[in-house]
Amino acid sequence: MSQSTFRTPKGTHDLLPEDHVYMTYIKKAVRHRARQAGYKRIETPIFEHRSIFERGIGEHTDIVEKELFMVSSKHSAEQEEGDFALRPELTASICRSYIEHGMQQLPQPVELYAIGPCFRHDRPQKGRYRQFYQYDFEIIGLRDASLDAQLIHVVHKVLSDLQILDRLRLQVNNIGTAENRGQFVAALKDYFIGKERNLPELDRKRLETNPLRLLDSKEEDTQILIKSAPKLDQFLDDESKEYHANVLEYLDTLGISYQENPGLVRGLDYYTQTVFEYWDETTGAQNAVGGGGRYDPLIAMLGGKETPAIGFAGGMERTVWQMKQAGVQPPDKDQVDVFVAQLGPEAKKKCLALISELRDKGVHTIGALGEASLKSQMRLADKFAARFTLLLGQVEVKEDVIILRDMAAGKQKQIPFKKAIPEIIKLLGDRNLDTYTINDHIGEGVDED
Ligand code: HAM
Repeated sequence: MSQSTFRTPKGTHDLLPEDHVYMTYIKKAVRHRARQAGYKRIETPIFEHRSIFERGIGEHTDIVEKELFMVSSKHSAEQEEGDFALRPELTASICRSYIEHGMQQLPQPVELYAIGPCFRHDRPQKGRYRQFYQYDFEIIGLRDASLDAQLIHVVHKVLSDLQILDRLRLQVNNIGTAENRGQFVAALKDYFIGKERNLPELDRKRLETNPLRLLDSKEEDTQILIKSAPKLDQFLDDESKEYHANVLEYLDTLGISYQENPGLVRGLDYYTQTVFEYWDETTGAQNAVGGGGRYDPLIAMLGGKETPAIGFAGGMERTVWQMKQAGVQPPDKDQVDVFVAQLGPEAKKKCLALISELRDKGVHTIGALGEASLKSQMRLADKFAARFTLLLGQVEVKEDVIILRDMAAGKQKQIPFKKAIPEIIKLLGDRNLDTYTINDHIGEGVDED
């Protein structure tokens, strides 16, 4: 491939500034609601030992069987450590970290949240990418139906902040214990004896490896057969039924509306009991905006002590899409307040200092410090949509003044040079200054990412 034809790899995309404002807005809502509810942020590596995903998510799930991006190393010493894979989701890694750092010693439950890229080698299509972003909430260490409802409540708050909640439908189900599912799967396999021929090839394979997935198969032939097949809820034990009833009761208490969906099983093996997804009102299961559930067996599956947990992950690209459909316009914090134009070596020096001081005061300032004519600099100020221009030519330097131009009004006046900064601040208003004190943010570090 020649240099000029380089493009992003299939299924990936550049996050350009016009889309970044949406991502920043989502991250803000997530951080805000997470902090309110006592979640702490965690960041795990983008790649992990592949067996974490194989054991956690399940060897026969689509995500592991077909979609893992393998990372191999050329260094023989590291090869001995085994293969690595890019993370297809965040939950298994967060649980690995919980075990590795002895978080069971902390007061339980441990509430964590994470935001970051995930990778699945899926066939790219609308809303399905090979690199995509998730925001993720996990409550680890306790099992109680009220925690399931509280987690869903936090997600609800985020979706409501982003003004897309009314476009979505919360789907809820209870898939019981592993034992319940074992009995159900046996019954399902019995039911399909002699009917396999009528299944599409993919589902015929699933019947062998992951029969639960037949329930949410998108194949019409499978759907028809599933209609008369045994139902998972017939196999739920009393405890699971009671647990589910409690979750629904708590959701009612919190004023959260939902749709019970007995066909919802989710595509990862670690779930037990509560599972849920947010579907678009019109497109349904395709392109869910987020999903989650209780995963009590996962930590033990990864070698830890048996530890109950529940979590959720939202897909950020799909969330952005929903926001755009809903006409949500996130605030653009990248506006240019002041453009500084100058001419001549003396003016240039004074402007260097002026630009730096304006920025320190919280004024978004850019300046073309090249040799272009004042006229072309003014055109540039227009293109950047600057609210004000400060203009310093040789004459102004001599007279110790500066020209202040209001770009929208098309009016300008001459003011003493030293009045330039106070005047700009007065015009913009204190409230609109982009000030930042590092001390406010100690301890947050990557959090602002
Ligand atoms: P998931 O349903 O596999 O769950 O993914 C969560 C969300 O990530 C999906 O609803 C979707 O919005 C987004 N997503 C998934 N794959 C893609 C893709 N290829 N392109 C774009 N967006 C995608 C999980 O990942 C679980 N870890 C959720 C969880 C957390 N369960 C417990 N804790």
